[in-house]
Amino acid sequence: MNEGRPSRTAQRVAVRRAAHQLMDRPLIFEDPYAMRIIGPDAAAATAAKSDGRVSSSFRAFMAVRSRYAEDELAHAVVRGVRQYVVLGAGLDTFAWRSPFPDLRVFEVDYPATQHWKRQRLVNVGMDQPESLTFAPVDFETQTLAEGLRLAGFRTDEPACFSWLGVTMYLTAEAFQSTISFIGGLPTGSGVTFDYAVDRAELGFFEKAALDHLGRKVAAMGEPFQLFFRPPELAASLRLSGFNDLEDVGRDELNGRYLAERADGLRLRGGIGRIMRARR
Ligand SMILES: C[S@@+](CC[C@H](N)C(=O)[O-])C[C@H]1O[C@@H](n2cnc3c(N)ncnc32)[C@H](O)[C@@H]1O
Repeated sequence: MNEGRPSRTAQRVAVRRAAHQLMDRPLIFEDPYAMRIIGPDAAAATAAKSDGRVSSSFRAFMAVRSRYAEDELAHAVVRGVRQYVVLGAGLDTFAWRSPFPDLRVFEVDYPATQHWKRQRLVNVGMDQPESLTFAPVDFETQTLAEGLRLAGFRTDEPACFSWLGVTMYLTAEAFQSTISFIGGLPTGSGVTFDYAVDRAELGFFEKAALDHLGRKVAAMGEPFQLFFRPPELAASLRLSGFNDLEDVGRDELNGRYLAERADGLRLRGGIGRIMRARR
């Protein structure tokens, strides 16, 4: 992160979710606030680009990972979970769309990004829902435990966490300290996150795509720095207290969310995977 500055990638991925609302049918991820929260200038530019120039595979991954995380939240709510924590929330809009009246939502983010989002919310006229509490936390220098404690989070009750588009920007220590915190919460808790696959595991074209994307985000001051080999990640999550894991990549996600579409929207690369870990 650029110290003291809001995340630029947060705006970038939110624009992809907005583009999904405009360009793809059927929608995988329905978000009536997606266009509004990116701000009027970006919304106008997104509408002007709706001829398909925005990379469809990247856009599909943004939509699929949010859908996956919110599907997992719905399962958690059925199991009785009443706390949802959106880690590295960026311009996520779940709190404004929540269909669960007694669910408490916590948005955790890098303080400058959260400040920027709150300003954006004022500018676009989106009032803070009563169910939402903001918790500013820098995963590198502060503990999630303390940030959530100050926000009124209950550590004696289970919670569902999502952590989308964040882990690849962190150090291994910051990642592990957050995972250890969630792994110590009551049974019934869980986390859904996406992660970048170790370069050595990728094919020629995927390496080229990763390098291209890596250069872009590094130029924004948010370089990728954390990659995993799937079996090693699974082993370390088990050691951290998670006993029910689902690790899904392109093929499983295409089959689950993008099968039999007339528009051909697909995930094409294998750089990003989604992990769902419950305890
Ligand atoms: C690519 S954006 C994803 C935002 C959101 N989850 C989404 O999918 O739209 C990355 C997010 O990670 C957050 N982030 C990156 N490094 C962080 C850190 N050290 N502490 C807290 N948040 C961090 C950024 O502030 C930003 O909100």
